[in-house]
Amino acid sequence: MCDITFRSAEATDWPAMGVLTSAAFGFQQPEETAAAWRSLVASDGAVVACAGDEVVGTAVFLDFELTVPGGAVLPMAGVSMVAVAPTHRRRGVLTGMLDELHRRMVGYPIAGLEASEAEIYGRFGYGPATVWERLEVHRRGARVHPGVPDPGGVRMARPIDHRAQLEDIDERWRRRTPGGLHTPARLWDEVLADREESRHGGTPRYCLLHADGYAFYRLFGDEKTTAEVTKFAAATAEAEIALWRVLLGLDLKEVVGIHTHPRHLLPYLLTDPRRVRVTSVEDGLWLRMLDIPAVLQARTYSADLSAVLEVSDGFLGRGGRFALDVRGGQAACVATDAEPDVCLDVSVLGSLYLGAHRASSFAAAHRLRCKDSELVSALDAAFASEIPAQLGFGF
Ligand SMILES: CC(C)(COP(=O)(O)OP(=O)(O)OC[C@H]1O[C@@H](n2cnc3c(N)ncnc32)[C@H](O)[C@@H]1OP(=O)(O)O)[C@@H](O)C(=O)NCCC(=O)NCCS
Repeated sequence: MCDITFRSAEATDWPAMGVLTSAAFGFQQPEETAAAWRSLVASDGAVVACAGDEVVGTAVFLDFELTVPGGAVLPMAGVSMVAVAPTHRRRGVLTGMLDELHRRMVGYPIAGLEASEAEIYGRFGYGPATVWERLEVHRRGARVHPGVPDPGGVRMARPIDHRAQLEDIDERWRRRTPGGLHTPARLWDEVLADREESRHGGTPRYCLLHADGYAFYRLFGDEKTTAEVTKFAAATAEAEIALWRVLLGLDLKEVVGIHTHPRHLLPYLLTDPRRVRVTSVEDGLWLRMLDIPAVLQARTYSADLSAVLEVSDGFLGRGGRFALDVRGGQAACVATDAEPDVCLDVSVLGSLYLGAHRASSFAAAHRLRCKDSELVSALDAAFASEIPAQLGFGF
């Protein structure tokens, strides 16, 4: 690649960076929204690629906190605003920017992102770590199973009047949910502003509020017969049931939709689970370990395990052999010279980390090689997460 230089973004670069991202993704954020996201960029966490004095590439990382199984929270570099000018694609601009960006992630044991296309980031050591499923329930005639309690306690509320309570519920929810992210105050400002540009053709946002949970939804369609849940957080099982009872009772609505994880409660609440359909399945959060022992020691595990992992990392060279010993849910992980029991790429380890994907699936695809099948089962059992992982919010 010739004539491309990489440097920190300066304040004067942001308009050009905004043009690149809006040309790539087809939308332009209102200035207040763009400023809120800019405020989350980590110190020296924005790079541009330049051809002469023309900005032809942009990539940043945001300063986030990621919840891992067991409830520990890790600093996470959230890669975002990645775009290359259509005139300069496929000549290594992205590779150069990510090289530059990852060198700046000092103090971050893990990085994460959402991928526009699933073929881009595996080569950089990222693996899909949560599954994002859209469910819809056809609610006419849908009946709640007689065994399901009716906790009540839900009211319609104006979010702006209950900001502190919403933030508190969200914090409690994200601290117990693998993949959960802390929502900074500047993003709450944006959520509560409910800007026209964020409605995607839907109505203004409605809010159902419970002492331990909330659901935001909008109505879509010519007749406004689809209620799409745009944000849902329940810190207790009781709040989740209470909120779903109200959503299932939305008269005049044919369909209630939600993007969620694949182990959702909804089919189990109904006498007829076929009223719930999966309309799409995609990857959500992608993870990339930067400090493998620190990250593996941070989560708790569901079963004991003793294995030497050989992790390949072609992009950053931070792989190697690691002895992972799990006892009573806690892990010790150290570099070792011992012979490996399991060989895998760092992207696969990222996919296993939150428990959303199983070692046995990767073993079947020959992307994880293990000395015996019992060890594959032991990996499945250890990395499972009782609480399903899901992406805290999109970035
Ligand atoms: C995706 C994008 C950033 C890639 O930038 P780029 O400068 O062309 O990427 P590079 O030249 O560094 O590519 C590095 C490697 O990834 C591959 N690659 C890049 N983008 C790819 C894509 N969309 N699909 C499949 N492979 C891709 C390249 O072929 C290259 O492979 P190679 O090393 O085997 O030759 C650019 O196409 C773009 O701006 N797309 C629109 C915005 C977007 O999707 N951004 C990502 C947001 S998550």
